[in-house]
This record gives sequence, C-alpha cells and structure tokens, in this order.
Amino acid sequence: NPIQAPQLDKCGVATNLNNGKQLDINCCPPLGENIIDYRLPPVFQMKIRPSAHRVTPEYIFKFNMAMDRMRRLPKDDPRCFMQQANIHCAYCNGAYDQPGQGTLDLQVHNSWLFFPFHRWYLYFYERILGKLIGDPTFALPFWNWDNPKGMTIPPMYLDPKAAIYDPKRNQDNLKAVIDLGMTGNKDPLQVVANNLTIMYSEMIRSNTDVYDFMGQPYREGTGVNPGPGASERGSHVAIHVFVGDPREPSGENLGNFYSAGRDPLFYCHHSNVDRMWSLWQYFLPSNKVPDKRITDPDFLNASFLFYDENAQLVRVTVKDSLDNLRMGYDFERVDLPWLDYRP
Ligand code: C2O
Repeated sequence: NPIQAPQLDKCGVATNLNNGKQLDINCCPPLGENIIDYRLPPVFQMKIRPSAHRVTPEYIFKFNMAMDRMRRLPKDDPRCFMQQANIHCAYCNGAYDQPGQGTLDLQVHNSWLFFPFHRWYLYFYERILGKLIGDPTFALPFWNWDNPKGMTIPPMYLDPKAAIYDPKRNQDNLKAVIDLGMTGNKDPLQVVANNLTIMYSEMIRSNTDVYDFMGQPYREGTGVNPGPGASERGSHVAIHVFVGDPREPSGENLGNFYSAGRDPLFYCHHSNVDRMWSLWQYFLPSNKVPDKRITDPDFLNASFLFYDENAQLVRVTVKDSLDNLRMGYDFERVDLPWLDYRP
C-alpha cells in the first residue's frame, strides 16, 4: 500500500539526525479542522522559474518583499516563515509516524518520495509568496549549480540586509565554487570540470532503471531510507553540506534536515533539484532508461499534507506532481553543458 499522509494530531518529538539527539524545538504544524483533497487549479499563465544568477533587480526586490512578508506573518500562521521551515523538520526528522504502523517513522528522503515531496513543498511555498505580494505569476528562482555560470551561491542571497539572507552559512564558501563531488579540491577549474562529470553521471550514466534516478520503493510498512536516487545522493547532498555552517553545533542551517528550511537558499537549491527531475523526464535521451515513469500504485497514490496559500489544509498525491507544466510552472531555459560531458 502507499504511504499515507501523516496524522497531524499525532505529530511528536523530532530527532536531530546528525547526532541522534532529540530536538528541543517543536516542528509540528498547527492543527487544521478539515482536510480538502487538493485539485490542481487550471493553468492560465505559466510561471517561469528564473535562474537565480540571472535575475533582474526588479525580481530581487519583489522576491525580498514576499519573503519579508512571510517572515512577518503571525507565528501560528501555517504560512509564516518558521512554520514553512518546520515542514521539512516534521517530514524528515521523525516527528511523524506512518499512520497505522505503530512508531515506524515517516521519512520522505532516501526513497522515491524525495522528488514528489519536495516538489509539493516548493509548489505551496511559491504560491504563498505570490499571494503575499498579490502576484499569481511569482515563481521561485533556481540555483543553476549544474552550469559553470551558477556554481557559486547566487549573489542575491549574500546581501545581509535582504529578507532572503541567512547568517548561518559556511563563511569560507560564500563565494567559492561548489564542489559537487565533495572532493576537497581547491582548484576551481578542476572542480568545475569534475562537477560536470558528476552531473553527466547522475543524470545519465549511472541510471539503468527508473529507481536509480528516482530512489527506491517506499511503501506502507517499509522502514526508513530504502535508498536514494543518484541525484538526491550526489549533488543534492553536496550542496547542503557545502552551505551548512561549521560554526554551528550541527551544520545549521542548510546542513541539517531539521533546520534546512530556515535558509531561504534551501528553496532555490531545491528548485534546481526539481528542475533535474523535469529535465530527466522530458529532455534526456531515453536509450538507457526507456520508461521514466513509475506506474506502481503505491507510488502514485502516496500522499502528503500541506497548507495552501489560503492556509487551507490540503491532501496532495504523488500522481498529481508528475508534470510540472500541469502544476503551472516551468523553468527558464539555460544550457546543459553536462549533457555530453562524458569522462
Ligand atoms: Cu528535504 Cu534537500 O532536503
């Protein structure tokens, strides 16, 4: 059977997975009275997520205005900055158990739920920001770390006065070239070349079936972490580690599941992770993975709960997340220099 959406009233204590200790923060969302099965609204105008390194000053202004308003929402509003950040903690740090499975933790990472869960998470985050500035076309940026032009933290995130700033980042890496292979190599040219090799490998070479890319099956009753896909395990984790602050006790913010959502850069990073899924589905040659769809009903019918932009609690399914165009957004087109970067 599919993984069922968690029961909010059973949400409990979360664990810091970096050190195994119980967290003393409550990352459970406010309880909602009624749950609505979410229906994707008709798409009148496609939102285009821009590459974070190429955005205009107007975009940066608007984005910061939206984030600032999100930070100012009342603390118990499920759309406020901290409640949104806590969604990640609740779904990833053992605060939820699988309904009907005793104390078996619910964990959306390291499995085939990774892409769908984070896609829905960003979907509502984006809609909340759009609503706060009255712009239904607002689209989150993506951190284009798969392209040499985007292999540093996007500059707009470095302005200490900006609402998208976060002080808890590795100060040595603020302007450094990201190292997707976590090699420790300090020669930027070699790191860029290695990054492209890694991208080629994660997106093409290492995937012989759909699960190699998407992650392993995770069903009702399955223990946590059945296995991540190539992209989740590789570039995705590398960015978290690269940005997390070594001065903090546990890699906060981006370097720890419970706190990752507190850095606005998280959503920019995951927007590119999401883009990798879309590129893989629609743009990559299918000679090695002939069928890129998972048709298993335990995948398609898995569900999650989120608060939408109107603070309504909604249940969403994996099957409604398979096509980003149907969800109303697309990505700015940029080069894919890793596409034929065979080692
Ligand atoms: Cu839910 Cu990048 O982690």
